[in-house]
Amino acid sequence: MKHLYLTLLLVALVSCSKTTHFEIKTLDTDEPRFSWNYESDAKNVKQTSYRIIVASTLDGALKGLGDLWDSDVINSDRMLYIPYEGKPLQSRDKVFWKVFATLSYDKNKTVSVESDVKSFEISLLESSDWQAKWIGHDFDDDILVGKTRVAARYLRKEFNLSKNIVEARLYVSGLGQYSAYINGVEVAPDELLKPALSDYRKRVYFNTFDVTEMLKNGDNAIGVTLAGGRFTAMRYNAANPDYDFTDNVLHFGTPRMILQLEITYQDGCKSLIVSDESWKITNRGPIRTSNEYDGETYDENYELGDWTLPYYDDASWLKAELVEAPKGELKPQMNPNIKVQDTLTPVAIFKKDDKCILDMGQNMVGVLQINLNGQQPGDTITLRFAENLYPDSTLDVRNLRGAEATDHYIVKTCHGASLQWKPIFTYHGFRYVAIQGLRDIPNPTNFHGLVFYDEMQTTGSFESSDEVLNAVYRNAFWGIRGNYRSMPTDCPQRDERMGWTGDRATGCYGESYIFDNHLLYAKWLDDGEDCQLDNGSVSDVFPPYWRNYTNSMTWPGAFITVADMIYTRFGDNEPIRKHYDAMKKWLNFMKNKYMFDGIMMRDQYGDWCMPPESPEFIHSRDKDRRTRAAVISTPYYCYLSGKMAKFAEILGLTDDVEYFKNEVSTTTEAYNTKYLNHQIWRYDNNTVTANILPLFFGMVPKGHEDDVFENIVDRTENLHDGHVSTGVVGIQFLMRTLTEYGRGDLALKIATNDTYPSWGYMVRNGATTIWELWNGNTADPSMNSGNHVMLLGDLILWEYEYLGGIRALEPGYKKIQLKPYPIDGLDFVNCAYNSVSGRIESNWKRDGNHFEWEITIPANTEAEVWIPTKNGYKIKTLGSGKYQF
Ligand code: BGC
Repeated sequence: MKHLYLTLLLVALVSCSKTTHFEIKTLDTDEPRFSWNYESDAKNVKQTSYRIIVASTLDGALKGLGDLWDSDVINSDRMLYIPYEGKPLQSRDKVFWKVFATLSYDKNKTVSVESDVKSFEISLLESSDWQAKWIGHDFDDDILVGKTRVAARYLRKEFNLSKNIVEARLYVSGLGQYSAYINGVEVAPDELLKPALSDYRKRVYFNTFDVTEMLKNGDNAIGVTLAGGRFTAMRYNAANPDYDFTDNVLHFGTPRMILQLEITYQDGCKSLIVSDESWKITNRGPIRTSNEYDGETYDENYELGDWTLPYYDDASWLKAELVEAPKGELKPQMNPNIKVQDTLTPVAIFKKDDKCILDMGQNMVGVLQINLNGQQPGDTITLRFAENLYPDSTLDVRNLRGAEATDHYIVKTCHGASLQWKPIFTYHGFRYVAIQGLRDIPNPTNFHGLVFYDEMQTTGSFESSDEVLNAVYRNAFWGIRGNYRSMPTDCPQRDERMGWTGDRATGCYGESYIFDNHLLYAKWLDDGEDCQLDNGSVSDVFPPYWRNYTNSMTWPGAFITVADMIYTRFGDNEPIRKHYDAMKKWLNFMKNKYMFDGIMMRDQYGDWCMPPESPEFIHSRDKDRRTRAAVISTPYYCYLSGKMAKFAEILGLTDDVEYFKNEVSTTTEAYNTKYLNHQIWRYDNNTVTANILPLFFGMVPKGHEDDVFENIVDRTENLHDGHVSTGVVGIQFLMRTLTEYGRGDLALKIATNDTYPSWGYMVRNGATTIWELWNGNTADPSMNSGNHVMLLGDLILWEYEYLGGIRALEPGYKKIQLKPYPIDGLDFVNCAYNSVSGRIESNWKRDGNHFEWEITIPANTEAEVWIPTKNGYKIKTLGSGKYQF
């Protein structure tokens, strides 16, 4: 069985005999784009021409016959996102493709290379492709108030296939979450919490699987388990006073599904098995409830036996009902599902009262798989998850707010050594687990912490001579991946877990070095456009499971910066093209509603989560001392308008280029008139954030940049003793601004501090991820997640782009700048990034004045190499290869 997905097609074309995998993928478009890159040790490799052939059969492609499209030989070095220009493609079409290229290398050698054949399928593109109907059933025992409790639905159908099967495809969506089984075997058991999240009023994702091998000639059965996921609101009922947001929560309904199984026989005939009233359904199965906040309860007393095999007696089951289809359009899911990508075993197990406490050694996101001996009928095993322990080693769950974060397993039969279980429709953010109800004293091998997040490559690595920096990087790595749940979430543990936009506005750029998050973020922008109201307003959370339309520049601004990230880092301008109108509509809405005399007045969150108890800010809500709304929003409006001018240029919208450039200059002027003190070159009340935004955004009157910068240095060094003083907004630009203006040493100090407030302080106090608050160890637990990534600001970006010095001069790293900053205090930095254009490396070490540097420039790219010297840099332009200086 092979799973089908993927948009970005990367193929390594190599001059030696290295092969690439043959995979099947589906696309949600009839206009695919082709990309590849090279692996080569040769120097100065340049692609001089390429030819793409696209065939309808594997054989055709192997023979190099492009019956669907032959691009002919194109003399070009282009290798990213080349649009298909062949015969029109339709739903279900199979497509095989291959690239031939000629390369020049060394001085004047040439070589012809060709890729393996890659393939994909076009998914179901039209609503008329669907014969299946949405089915489900409302049960009286569903609890849809407060902490909602909905038992999983089990749906099944038997069918006979009377001929030899050559191919079968399963198209399925189960809302909120599903797992599917054919003839007793789970379909893609390694893919979890599927399908991807969306605003179900606007779109619903379905998955496609190749299930040819799972079916047989004769009697077959298919079964699907469904859970509420985010389709059934996890908190619901305005009457419940515990939850502020309840009247603001999106509730779509109880679980339902649509499924279409398409079978092709040897003789060319086809069969269709679809979801309809002929299916049977029950909610009397073992998953008694599941909820992402509260956990899952599994009761063996309700086990259904071989319900996914043929000849099962389902007489007591009900008839499935046709239910209202979600309003959203059915769309093939292009971003991969969540998968287990790491496994931990506990580093310590100890008894505390009647519980057994596991310490996973790491704040992780996923579930705990248990493998237990000796449990007896009637036992209930309770697993409660938490990030923290109290000093007396009991579980500290205060920062989970209302999330129960508890799994239950109820035992019916004698298990001996064989009780193995993991929940399938929930996840937890935890380091510690308190387990109740165990018979034997377990050992670490009885438990596996399954670490899961959206399937994606780890593309970057960074290490330096500084241990604090390395430890913070490691915490960031865990925090970032732990907060990918088919949308980037704020946190994975408490009753929130929302796609809070502001947390990622700049973080996404840094993240893109560590992880190939291209498809995840492209999908998140679709969520962004889906949540736009008719008036143009965009929610603070994508998808808007919480309807927070508070209209700031900073949070929804991620709609624009994320598209910019995808363009600059992955070279893909498709999201810009797709969402440009919506972005413009949003900016216009903000301008028309909240801009007065060139000043944007509206902001909701301020410089969120500034370090409290610092000499300057007693509390971030201290009115006189915080960076005020207009001082955040107006520069941000300029910044985003500048990006829009760039987008308009990419799209060839000349009037818009002028318009947005004009917005930048008129707003800048109004802003400087109102908020810049032209005598002492300070902005407003002189916070670091008030000065850093206009400086980074290029709004400071020419010639006075250093004056404004001095305020930032003065505040940081003298008032804050070399510590961070900004909140989530200012910190997005802090490290880069300090370094750009010549105070890399101060940036390094901030990055390597371990005194309060700092990332290193978190490490010193036992953090293994990044805290929501600088004082996460002492703050009020009600807003104090141990696993938020927003405070990282531009730290990761700075590590790759300044310390390592790897930057994109052209989108997608077709042109690279390598410009390291060997800041005093660091002896070495090793930094590598597998970009869409190939692998880039920058490893340097220094010993006093002696500096050594090794770099790798990928084939078919060019780098502007800035070699550090005593008095600055010497610049060289180099082609691909490995170099040492
Ligand atoms: C979330 C943040 C979010 C913020 C907005 C918090 O509750 O956890 O990450 O950005 O609200 O103010």
